Amino acid sequence: MSEKNVILSIESSCDDTSAAVICDGLLLSNVIASQKVHEEYGGVVPELASRAHQQNIVPVVDTAIRRAGISKDDISAIGFTRGPGLLGSLLVGTSFAKGLAVSLGVPLVEVNHLQGHIMAHFLHPYDSLVAATPSLHGVEFRHPEYPFICLLVSGGNSQIVRVDSYKDMTILGQTIDDAAGEAFDKCAKVLGLPYPGGPWIDRLAKLGNSRAYPLAKPNIQGYDYSFSGLKTSFLYTIRDLMKEKGVDTVDALAGQIPNFKEDMCACLQTTVVDILLRKLRKAAKDNGIKRIAVAGGVSANSHLREQMLLLGKKEKWDVFIPPFSFTTDNAAMIAQAAYYKYLDRDFCPIDAVPYAKTRI
Ligand code: KG4
Repeated sequence: MSEKNVILSIESSCDDTSAAVICDGLLLSNVIASQKVHEEYGGVVPELASRAHQQNIVPVVDTAIRRAGISKDDISAIGFTRGPGLLGSLLVGTSFAKGLAVSLGVPLVEVNHLQGHIMAHFLHPYDSLVAATPSLHGVEFRHPEYPFICLLVSGGNSQIVRVDSYKDMTILGQTIDDAAGEAFDKCAKVLGLPYPGGPWIDRLAKLGNSRAYPLAKPNIQGYDYSFSGLKTSFLYTIRDLMKEKGVDTVDALAGQIPNFKEDMCACLQTTVVDILLRKLRKAAKDNGIKRIAVAGGVSANSHLREQMLLLGKKEKWDVFIPPFSFTTDNAAMIAQAAYYKYLDRDFCPIDAVPYAKTRI
């Protein structure tokens, strides 16, 4: 396999340790170890995340290499997530990537986590990987042509990005406070739902009435987002109802109001999706672009997917939605971005350090 371009990539920006192998543009393996340790705290605990990455990284990388059917000597370059993310978590992946690159005598390729999410749209899994992954069965892999607009929504970011090439991306708008995923997770915590709350909100919302409790929508200029007011409105709605019913816990309130949690979830989800799509529609219109993609963990949300397709039909968009397994954090998307950079010989120095804050 030595003349082939084989990229091993590592993702460790938050609470998933992941490694993936891409060979000549084909995804051969994608291994993810999710950290359950945070569930009991209702959110990611940075110190625990970096310790868990240290425990997971060797078996995860080893499994990715084995499942890809390659040997370490076949590897042409090591890709890694340099940021943004939790510094302690990023340090584990970055240090491991550097050590591996030096020991194998191959170049290092740094990847911006957010660009990685967008590059998930260009993944091309190998047949045997599709066969071994039930969630990929029957999935059609369509790749958007440039330029396209991507709604990037995750636990830490909510952005509208104009994508002109894999290395030419412009943030048109972004959240000025919380991210959409953060709003889901924090409101879920208020309702006593487990972490991460997004998937729970999605599940319960299917059983709720989205008009039961009107929630506040922000009035922000341009393409920027804000979710802090919505979070406060969610909290105050519950506080006022608790006062009215004379109870002091959300569970006691739910005992008095039939379908309370389901209705709150449906109202929150509808409001978040409405806020997201309103700005996306404006950005698409103003830029005259009809190829519209979504990426990041929140793109797993079923209501967002449905509404994007509906809006796309109305606006005559070509809508690109990644398969579920490539929406949340994974190294496959990092490997895809690293693969393009590798072909351009865009390598990174061995003394590169991780960065925590958003930049694209
Ligand atoms: O992209 P991601 O895995 O991690 C970050 O880079 O942030 O996104 C995680 C976020 C969490 O906030 C989680 O609650 C949210 O994605 N999420 C969802 C769904 N699945 C994951 N939010 C709403 N509906 C879902 N089905």
